[in-house]
Formats: sequence, C-alpha cells, structure tokens
Amino acid sequence: MTFFVIYTIKRVFAELPISFLVRYSVRLTCRIFMKSQSYLDKKCGTQIEIALKLDPKLVQFFNNGKLDLGDSRALLLYNKVILKEFMDLSFNIPEGYLIPTICSRWEFLKYILKSNPAKVLEIGTGASGILALMLGSVGVSVTATEIDKEAIKSAQSNIELNNLTKEVSLIHSQGEIVKNLIPQLSEYDLIICNPPQYDEKYYQEHKSSARGFIGKYLELVGGRKGHEFILSLLSEVKMDSNPPPVYFQLTLPRLKTILEEDLKRLQYEFTVVTTRIGTRERLYYKVEFT
Ligand SMILES: C[S@@+](CC[C@H](N)C(=O)[O-])C[C@H]1O[C@@H](n2cnc3c(N)ncnc32)[C@H](O)[C@@H]1O
Repeated sequence: MTFFVIYTIKRVFAELPISFLVRYSVRLTCRIFMKSQSYLDKKCGTQIEIALKLDPKLVQFFNNGKLDLGDSRALLLYNKVILKEFMDLSFNIPEGYLIPTICSRWEFLKYILKSNPAKVLEIGTGASGILALMLGSVGVSVTATEIDKEAIKSAQSNIELNNLTKEVSLIHSQGEIVKNLIPQLSEYDLIICNPPQYDEKYYQEHKSSARGFIGKYLELVGGRKGHEFILSLLSEVKMDSNPPPVYFQLTLPRLKTILEEDLKRLQYEFTVVTTRIGTRERLYYKVEFT
C-alpha cells in the first residue's frame, strides 16, 4: 500500500509544471524509499544449512550441529554469505579488523531509513565500509570518513567491488571527527556513526583473547570510559552553524547510564530506541541540535 502511494506521488510530481530541482529531489526521495522498502520488507539472515551450501568453506567450522561463530574465520565467511544473499553485496577486510555482523548493522540502518535521507555523512566507516555500502546500494548518497589508513584502503576496494563509486565517497581523517574535515554539515540530511565504545581497561584486558574479540584499537576504544568518542563527535557537530541530527548506536548497553547522564548534563536533546537482536540489546540514539 505505502509502496503504491509513493509510486503515485512520484508519477504525479513528474507531470507537474514545477522547477526541475523540486521534481528531481521528490523523484530521488521516492526512488530511495522504494528501493529501501524492498529490503525493509525482507528478513535479514541466512539459515546455517543454506549458508553451508552457498559457501562450502564453512563446513570446516561446523561441529555437533553448530557453526562455531566464536572462530573469527567462520564469523567472517558467514557474514559474507548473509550480505551476498540479502543485498547482493560483497566485502573483504584485512586480517585483524572488525568483522561486521550484517543483520545488526541493517537493523540500525532500518531505524535511520525511516527518516528517508538522501544524503548521509558516516563517521568511521571501517575496513568493510559496511554501512556506507548498504546505504549506497539503496540509492542514498554517502560521504564516509575513516581514520585508519589500511581500513580506508580496504573500504575503497569494497566500494569499487560493488560498483558504488557514484554513491559513496571517502574522506581520510587525520584525527578530526568533523571539525576542519567536513566544511558544511548542513549539506547532509543526517550524520550516522557506529562509534568505538569499549573502555581502555576492557580493551587491554581482552585484546589478546584468542576468540571473539577482534578489532584494532581505534575501531574499538572510545576513550577511558568508552563514551568519550561519542561526546567528542557531538561537540564537534554542535559547533557547526546548522548541523543535521546525529544518529549513533550503542552496542554496549552498560554505557547507557553514564552516556545519558552526560548527554543531559551537556543539554543535548536526544531520543533513544531500544531493540533486541537475538540475545543482544542495541540502543539507537538520535541527537538533534536546535
Ligand atoms: C566501531 S568501528 C565501526 C566501523 C563500521 N562503521 C561498522 O559499523 O562496522 C568505528 C570506526 O571508527 C573509526 N574511527 C575512529 N576514530 C575516527 C575518527 N576520528 N575519524 C574517523 N573514523 C574514526 C575506526 O577506525 C573504526 O573503523
């Protein structure tokens, strides 16, 4: 039904004697909506039995009726299969970099796509460039930043691999988040970020664990307590004269209390949505600047 309404709006606007610019932006918004809608209605995820058939390399990680997702090689292969199945996209990452879990990333994007953005700025796209790839593939124009040299090289290869060079472009940060890096934030409908959020101590204690804790320091550590990167992002965005809203996700719900205390103390206007992905809780924040 919604699909039909949007299609009709698109057709009607195409006929009206209004400026090209208005017509173009309505058409673009409708196109993104229709493209993302086809995924919004689709369930993300591939059953293990099907994944085993799609990529037989997974068989070596299959034991006692279970896929050993604690093994990073299995986790990577499985998520590659899911992305291919779900959006017909591919990605590679250098060894030791964060492995994106596709359906949890998509859950975050579903929340963002509700506001129907046409132009998005992503902070910290990572070696996979996963959020940018997914948004680009539904027709959203994305500018994404990344600080890590090897990660940005890898993200660029993934953009090229998926023929998304028109939709996604990258900016190499030297430590800046947006200040002195992105001249006009008002160009974007919104800013998104899956921020690094582990605290220093946790990272130091777990970085050498053989299983389950994969990622580089800059990918994972958000500061001494963990939420400092988020606060820095917000304070840099706030300095802009007309900033768009910032959407970020908290994958570590234990940070909720400390983060929200600081958001209130610093007088940010925010909303939060809690969602459950399998056994895990995720919190999606939207911060607006008035
Ligand atoms: C948690 S990872 C998220 C990666 C990817 N967006 C994803 O969802 O898988 C955070 C990313 O932010 C990057 N990063 C850290 N500081 C940054 C900065 N100042 N500017 C841009 N990227 C930064 C890290 O290198 C890392 O790739």
